[in-house]
Amino acid sequence: MFGPPGAGKGTQAQRIMDITGMPQVSTGDMLRASVAAGTETGIKAKQFMDAGKLVPDDVIIDLIKDRLLQADASNGVMFDGFPRTIPQAEALSQICKVSHVIAIEVPDDIIVDRICGRFTCSGCSSVYHDSFKPTMVSGECDNCGSTNFNRRDDDNQTTVLSRLNAYHKQTSPLASWYESKGILHTIDGDRAIDLITSDILSALE
Ligand code: AP5
Ligand code: MG
Repeated sequence: MFGPPGAGKGTQAQRIMDITGMPQVSTGDMLRASVAAGTETGIKAKQFMDAGKLVPDDVIIDLIKDRLLQADASNGVMFDGFPRTIPQAEALSQICKVSHVIAIEVPDDIIVDRICGRFTCSGCSSVYHDSFKPTMVSGECDNCGSTNFNRRDDDNQTTVLSRLNAYHKQTSPLASWYESKGILHTIDGDRAIDLITSDILSALE
């Protein structure tokens, strides 16, 4: 699944995981975990992430190769935010079969509001938004009841413009690449969260 920052990739991948049991593999989440753990990968990646640039392809491809060796990946996964460049897509095609590609489209002008209002549960990583998806009980996660939440370092107005730029230059060419292989499903991401989930589920049938 690919799309611009704030397209709803993480929101949708969590819902698809809950419904189908297919694990969500988010390179963004994996990189943030590496940064938090202070690993060599995390140290290398942080400068790119803070600047809103893509992390080099070789770092990402190594992460994915390791992740796909884990037992829960044996029946398929849903990639969230990977691949993000043509070289990443080429590398993936050597590692496993890609059956469906979901492109979530959201216009640039609503991305900044989405990104700047996002917060995530520290307990279970559920994604919320100050206005568009608040918790049902103020300050308490709907899913796990945690009262601790995070806001990402790269969720600010300056970095989001670089992330959008990287998306248009390096990631959006994946649409025609996968369309030529006949596996691209383009979905309007500027609608209610439930409607988008049901379109993704139909695309995966
Ligand atoms: P990553 O973590 O993947 O960030 P991103 O692509 O910028 O996408 P986001 O996670 O910001 O948005 P999302 O689409 O998941 O939206 P969400 O569901 O949270 O990557 C971070 C960085 O890591 C990159 O910049 C790069 O440096 C590096 N990186 C990662 N993968 C890489 C790769 N493969 N190659 C190279 N570098 C890589 O939703 C956003 C907000 O909107 C939330 O608040 C949500 O509640 C709300 N929302 C969601 N859906 C809707 C809706 N339909 N209507 C209204 N609000 C909604
Ligand atoms: Mg995400």
